[in-house]
Amino acid sequence: IDLYAPERPNSTGWDLSDVVDIDAFDAARAHFQDRRWKASSIVVAGETSGPEHDVRNPANPDDIVGTVTFAGEAEVNAAIGASRAWGENAATRAQVLNKAADLYEENFGELFAVLTREAGKTPRDAVAELREAVDFLRYYAARATELTAPPCGVFTCISPWNFPLAIFTGQISAALAAGNGVLAKPAESTSIVASLAVELLHRAGVPTASLQLVVGTGSQVGAQLTSNPRIDGVCFTGSTATAMSINRAMAANLSPTAPLIAETGGINAMIVDSTALPEQAIRDIVTSAFQSAGQRCSALRMLYVQDDVAKPFLEMLFGAMDELVLGDPWSLQTDVGPVIDEAARATILDHIDAARDSGRILKVCDALPERGSFVAPTVIKVDGIADLKHEIFGPVLHVATFGSEELDDVVDAINATGYGLTFGMHSRIDDRIEQVTSRLQVGNQYINRNQIGAIVGSQPFGGEGLSGTGPKAGGPSYIHRFTKTERTVVPV
Ligand code: NAD
Ligand code: ALA
Repeated sequence: IDLYAPERPNSTGWDLSDVVDIDAFDAARAHFQDRRWKASSIVVAGETSGPEHDVRNPANPDDIVGTVTFAGEAEVNAAIGASRAWGENAATRAQVLNKAADLYEENFGELFAVLTREAGKTPRDAVAELREAVDFLRYYAARATELTAPPCGVFTCISPWNFPLAIFTGQISAALAAGNGVLAKPAESTSIVASLAVELLHRAGVPTASLQLVVGTGSQVGAQLTSNPRIDGVCFTGSTATAMSINRAMAANLSPTAPLIAETGGINAMIVDSTALPEQAIRDIVTSAFQSAGQRCSALRMLYVQDDVAKPFLEMLFGAMDELVLGDPWSLQTDVGPVIDEAARATILDHIDAARDSGRILKVCDALPERGSFVAPTVIKVDGIADLKHEIFGPVLHVATFGSEELDDVVDAINATGYGLTFGMHSRIDDRIEQVTSRLQVGNQYINRNQIGAIVGSQPFGGEGLSGTGPKAGGPSYIHRFTKTERTVVPV
């Protein structure tokens, strides 16, 4: 299957408006809503032991999803020592990764349930995430057979909790497709879904020595996996601060030619001018800012609205926010689920409280569930993007207005943040769109639509500047970064 062809068959997943798929959703809920999973490292040495931590559902602290055992220092070193590049030819690797994609689809219900209970994903988000994970497997399998350069060796892949299956799978499948061995370290809060994924990859035929799962904290396990000289490259997705710390650890300990692929954070803006269609723009703002409870690197953080339409436009936006359903991520009605944990909630609430103290809150949704790590979608007035000193990773939208002569100043301000991940623009004037997009230093720019949910194969995803090194995930160049330079043999 060539997923890069325009007519590529992306994974279909469940259609949650179709009664047959709603039956499958109900069955998964009935079957898995009380299950407790156990996760620990999956390494060549076999069973690992150590203290178990409870994993709780972020929407309901009484719901124990399972237990996780973190790896100790000696176990991590043993895993690094046992790691091997994947020796099979590209066609075999592609076949195995395609088989893994089939297994993900066969186990859709269980993976869906863990995404809901461990990561607080709503049904819409969980389905999209599963589809993306399957697409990554098939897309990189297709790319594997086009490679002519050898693998780097052993890659450490470190992933975040906000796409605990899709990004976890995307990193691993690209590294494996290129023939590398992988040491995979998921985010500590989403180790269960990672362990289920690795079990499926092994069942599909990936050898254990070429894919080991090492669970644990970033400061201990992550740091070990990025500072051991046996590691030939690191693929990281997470915050910009962590990427910088990994960069320093690699520079001090790894070969100077070891690649670092880092996909990081963003302070993403959207511009709405006075020619935009308000209903369409508002639908796309609500989706971009509040879907996934704003916990997407691509999410909209800073909205610029042209001043002459701002008042009625914002009133309409606040009305649309009143329609959002907050709460139980298992429910098909829910639009906004919880944030990942209490620590994340506290950080976001500190930011909202500071805005409240300075009288800058424009809107807060109500009807919050009483328990669970929920944050109400909130809108805060600011003077411009320079007021946002760092990424607020939750359902918080900042708003400023601009005058008709200030469009270039807005572009300069967005570029001056140094981040460049996503951008959105709503306008019906082509020249004005060109005036903005031609100068913006932003990796993914979306016009007259929402700015989240890039599709593997047709919308390669990744940022510039502080937002990432590239190459873009889900695009044709990505897999090449997991290989060495091609070898050339010149005959006499
Ligand atoms: P994080 O940086 O805190 O953690 C990411 C991963 O790095 C985790 O597995 C963590 O355990 C590990 N880690 C932490 N410290 C480490 C260290 N010193 N050495 C090695 N590994 C370490 O990020 P997060 O909170 O899990 O994820 C949210 C962030 O990820 C946001 O900034 C978001 O924008 C970003 N993100 C970016 C993309 C993208 O494609 N650009 C996608 C998703 C998330
Ligand atoms: N690839 C994800 C998105 O586009 C992060 O939202």
